[in-house]
Amino acid sequence: MQYDIKNIQLADKGLKRIKWAQNQMLVLEIIRKRFEKEKPLNGVKLSACLHVTTETANLMITLKAGGAEVSLCASNPLSTQDDVASSLVKDFGIPVFAIRGINKEGYYRHIQSTLNINPHITMDDGADLVSMIHSNFQGLVDHIIGGTEETTTGVIRLRSMQAEGALKYPIIAVNDALTKHLFDNRYGTGQSTIDGLLRATNILLAGKIVVICGYGWCARGLADRVRGMGARVVITEIDPIKALEAVMDGFQVSPIRSAARIGDIFITLTGDKNVIAKKEFLLMKDGAILANSGHFNVEIDIPSLEKLAIHKEVVRDNVVSYSLENKKIYLLAEGRLLNLAAAEGHPASVMDMSFANQALSVEYLIKNGSTLLNEVYSVPRNIDREIAYLKLKSMRIKIDQLTPEQKKYLKSWQEGT
Ligand code: ADE
Repeated sequence: MQYDIKNIQLADKGLKRIKWAQNQMLVLEIIRKRFEKEKPLNGVKLSACLHVTTETANLMITLKAGGAEVSLCASNPLSTQDDVASSLVKDFGIPVFAIRGINKEGYYRHIQSTLNINPHITMDDGADLVSMIHSNFQGLVDHIIGGTEETTTGVIRLRSMQAEGALKYPIIAVNDALTKHLFDNRYGTGQSTIDGLLRATNILLAGKIVVICGYGWCARGLADRVRGMGARVVITEIDPIKALEAVMDGFQVSPIRSAARIGDIFITLTGDKNVIAKKEFLLMKDGAILANSGHFNVEIDIPSLEKLAIHKEVVRDNVVSYSLENKKIYLLAEGRLLNLAAAEGHPASVMDMSFANQALSVEYLIKNGSTLLNEVYSVPRNIDREIAYLKLKSMRIKIDQLTPEQKKYLKSWQEGT
């Protein structure tokens, strides 16, 4: 078996951590047990480009239990948990191509290596696999039944491909599932971004002014939690509806140019580039802290910061100080996903639902792929609802059901006041 990981000796620690996460992933466990019996993925080759974490390990194990041959690479150079990569290779016989801190060239080499199995299914977090296949390995397309995409940024890229007529196989947008973005993006990113911020800096949040760029599901999860810890939150937005929501949720909303003057901490979660750039750096207070929790490291204009800096220095793990003429600005985790680079990503309990969507979407593609067009599809609503039921069940929470009388009432239109 071919693989490229940091150190196979790390496997024991990785295995313990994978099992710890497994205890919180009860929906995925139900799916794994069914997959073990039914083997719905027998003969299926699947290349995955995901953050190599304990939660991803449990997804890979589930897919393998269903009969799939899987191969895994990282979807970000800084998010790989090397002990997990080792355990997947040593304890589960899953080829992994991922090393934390790898350079750009190595990162793309790893993506290519995962494609060596000639996959039927691709599984992406950010659409790097799809992009690589469409740019450099078009010969693989004939063999591919479909793919899945985990994250907002990836879905945006794939919808652009569809709009240009460039997409060559169907994709299921896992991010669109309600049991994904309402929970993973909001509660997962909300909590794990704070986790990364605190592990990197150990600062007190109470009393700070935290500028959050964007008010999508990830950003609002973060805004709520940061406020809960005593910070004053300022939101920047370009979408009038989201901005209005932020206002009515009780946040101060302002353009980034004004927010730049007052913020102590800035966190971007927009999916777009250069959201904080040179003009803002020049306005910032001495000691401002910058971080990104969006998928790519383009949201903060780091090249401009580099140019402005007279001196640059690592002051703690994941904290680099940039000395400008009259102040210091601190950049966390090289502007890469703070929650995965400086912490462990979202907790297992919320990834349970995201990855249940992944596993069931793969099963759906195997059954229905031949009927789908080369477009981006949502996760079927029955799968989404099933995952919500299973999650509630795993939490031992019961809910009511409609009575026959209520069902009839909802279908009727004659009954009024
Ligand atoms: N994305 C965010 N958190 C994650 C995690 N824990 N594992 C995999 N992908 C993630």
